[in-house]
Amino acid sequence: MKKTFLFLFLLFAFVHCKKAPVLPTGLVTEEAMVVSARKEASQIGVEIMKKGGNAFDAMVATEMALVVAYPFAGNLGGGGFMVYRTAQGEVGGLDYREKAPLAAHKNMYLDSLGNVIPGMSTTGGTAVGVPGTVAGIIAAHEKLGSLPLETIFEPVIALAKKGVVVTENQEKRLASQREKFIAANGDSTKFATPFKKGDTITYPVLARTMGRIAAQGRDGFYKGETAQKLAAFIQGHGGFVTEEDLENYEAVWRSPIIFDYKDLRVISMSPPSSGGVTMNQIMAMMEPYDIAAFGHNSPKTIQLFTEASRRAYADRNFFLGDPDFVDIPLDVLLSDGYLEQRMGDFSFEMATPSAEVGHGQVDIVESMETTHYSIVDAQGNAVSVTTTLNGAYGSKLYSDELGFFLNNEMDDFSSKPGVPNMFGLIGAEANSIAPGKRMLSSMTPTIVERDGQLWMVVGTPGGSTIITAVAQTILNAYEFNMSMQEAVNAPRFHHQWMPDMVIFEPEGFSEELQDALKEKGYLINQDRTPIIGKVDAIKVLPNGQLEGGADKRGDDAAVGY
Ligand code: DON
Repeated sequence: MKKTFLFLFLLFAFVHCKKAPVLPTGLVTEEAMVVSARKEASQIGVEIMKKGGNAFDAMVATEMALVVAYPFAGNLGGGGFMVYRTAQGEVGGLDYREKAPLAAHKNMYLDSLGNVIPGMSTTGGTAVGVPGTVAGIIAAHEKLGSLPLETIFEPVIALAKKGVVVTENQEKRLASQREKFIAANGDSTKFATPFKKGDTITYPVLARTMGRIAAQGRDGFYKGETAQKLAAFIQGHGGFVTEEDLENYEAVWRSPIIFDYKDLRVISMSPPSSGGVTMNQIMAMMEPYDIAAFGHNSPKTIQLFTEASRRAYADRNFFLGDPDFVDIPLDVLLSDGYLEQRMGDFSFEMATPSAEVGHGQVDIVESMETTHYSIVDAQGNAVSVTTTLNGAYGSKLYSDELGFFLNNEMDDFSSKPGVPNMFGLIGAEANSIAPGKRMLSSMTPTIVERDGQLWMVVGTPGGSTIITAVAQTILNAYEFNMSMQEAVNAPRFHHQWMPDMVIFEPEGFSEELQDALKEKGYLINQDRTPIIGKVDAIKVLPNGQLEGGADKRGDDAAVGY
């Protein structure tokens, strides 16, 4: 009798539940977790929470620990975005994106004939925007943190003094950039030394710089000794950032982009990041379809995602920029009627050529030099942060006197309308350079609620591929019922309107599938199959436990308790 009842119950559950709950495959913990690009950084974030700190204290600690453990992208000399959700359900966004210096102007990277000067916005002092990271962590700490700044910095400074062991990936990254470090800084700079796997790199100078921030907060970076040395260093290398630029820099609290997708509520970053708007457009254009029935990475799913991305990126490149400088017609861009009309000419029969959606011809260069981390604390506060120097080690400028790299974020502006930046993104007037303006970003730190409860914290590096990688990770977990770790590991693809081609990651996309898409007119990048994104995410399981998704593509690690 009992057995019959159990059978009937299971049958009922199977018929009535859309999908059976998926078993976790990543690290599972009971209370709190940090997933970041380096185990050392995740561990320090967790240590701070074990000391009684909340997710925002852990944010400060993890961001700073990445400067030490992951100088490739972790930074004092760059900027980023944070999206948060408190345990009470309050949400917000923090913009600590770099700004153009006051001396910047629209045509600063053009020669007398109006052509873009190669390298000027990407390498050395001329590429550097006013750093925002320290203002960001201090703003987050003041509004939402709980432990004293000195307590939070203590393990980070200890790590900087003790040093970090070079991994195989790091050895490769440093070796590939060494000549560029020497070209930018001379041959006596710290990173002119070839480092090998297993070596320990210590950061005594950085420890002192961090000591000033721990003691004086914002002023320890934007005023006094650090600011004087920093402005002199950048200007000594031809750059434009002054002490006045540093003193004036402010992080800005912004309302995130919030949208519903089926029974999910997605909370993501608003302009000057394009992440939230563009992901909202992509997912809203896909929402009317039964994607789960199409299957994961099936031709129909790839077509639909590609066509939605094509249209969304065309809008991104034309309309989006710093909201403090340009009017963005968000109401229209995110309205159902507009998005329905955008997909009006979509058909599963044939690709829509991007030339019919916009113009341009460019190359894409993908890279992984940004970094994302996700945090959930024992109270249920969630923090999603993407932070960057832009390119690999930013502008390659490294201040031996201060112990950190400087960004080349100025390249995220549109130096000239129609000319692509290093991610192949073609900008327009909305993203042109102006003094004090923030350059448009693709960073997409995101938090997802399901049935009103915290469900996922997610984000990734990857330049222009960030937005599609985040959207695919959410869809993998929601539509295709993958565990957090599976959703992160699953092969990804990308389309960004221009250049008009679908990029597939190596392995995971069969010849047969690619042929089926080619027959429908899709142009496929045959030459290079780069990895796309390096997603670090956390999912809250139905029983309240946390599952980490640390991307297998890097040294990323989930740590928790
Ligand atoms: O803000 C942006 O969109 C870029 N600066 C991000 C750069 C990036 O993701 C590089 N690494 N993958």
